[in-house]
Amino acid sequence: MSENNSALIHLKDISKVFLTDEIETHALSGISLDINEGEFLSISGPSGCGKSTLLSILGLLDSPSSGSYSLAGKEVASLNNNERSRIRNLDVGFIFQSFNLIGDLTVYENVELPLVYRGLKTGERKTRVLEALEKVQMSHRQNHYPHQLSGGQQQRVAVARALGGTPRILLADEPTGNLDSKNGAKVMEMLQDLNKEGATICMVTHDERYNEIASRIVHLFDGKVVDETVAAANH
Ligand SMILES: Nc1ncnc2c1ncn2[C@@H]1O[C@H](COP(=O)(O)OP(=O)(O)OP(=O)(O)O)[C@@H](O)[C@H]1O
Ligand SMILES: [Mg+2]
Repeated sequence: MSENNSALIHLKDISKVFLTDEIETHALSGISLDINEGEFLSISGPSGCGKSTLLSILGLLDSPSSGSYSLAGKEVASLNNNERSRIRNLDVGFIFQSFNLIGDLTVYENVELPLVYRGLKTGERKTRVLEALEKVQMSHRQNHYPHQLSGGQQQRVAVARALGGTPRILLADEPTGNLDSKNGAKVMEMLQDLNKEGATICMVTHDERYNEIASRIVHLFDGKVVDETVAAANH
């Protein structure tokens, strides 16, 4: 794979080994990957091949066992905790397999949280929260708590939370996994819009149809990149 120092995300030989009960799991083995600002990347591969592990590393939620990751020209391993959480809070939006909504915050407060981190004023936050909830058709549940919602509704709130913050990088792990095809298509449209506004998107999906909206598909197998394809619908 060619070196590209202008890439927003530059992974070189990234490996991740999990140790549990003396069993070593090699979740990622020597991933080298460059992602440019504004790309829409789809990561595909069978269950257990390392897709979520890769997203966690990209989002600074986990660290690689070896290899180097530089983000916007900065080596991630050299960042201190404050710098890491600043990037997580300000630059990255997450839509994860398990929704990670905060249980004792309402729907409204969950969606508002990234905007609080960004230092937006109450009025501006309100406009953005209501707009995001409107988009995922969850306005009528804004005062509910996550446990009072269905799985698909929780996922839509997680999407609203991620998109309302207009992140520079969006990491989406099966963002349509719990949604019917109509809501799934809507979420994909929202991801496309965010990408058009300049966000870099890394998405994992099992739904082949949605691979088409990506500009590039990276195929993982057993923790390795085995193939890369340029999506047919693009370029
Ligand atoms: N915290 C952990 N501790 C131990 N092993 C882990 C941990 N997280 C992931 N693994 C292992 O690492 C491998 C990759 O897991 P990962 O969750 O990245 O797969 P995935 O490609 O996202 O799969 P799926 O499509 O099922 O979500 C799996 O074998 C998994 O069991
Ligand atoms: Mg996964």
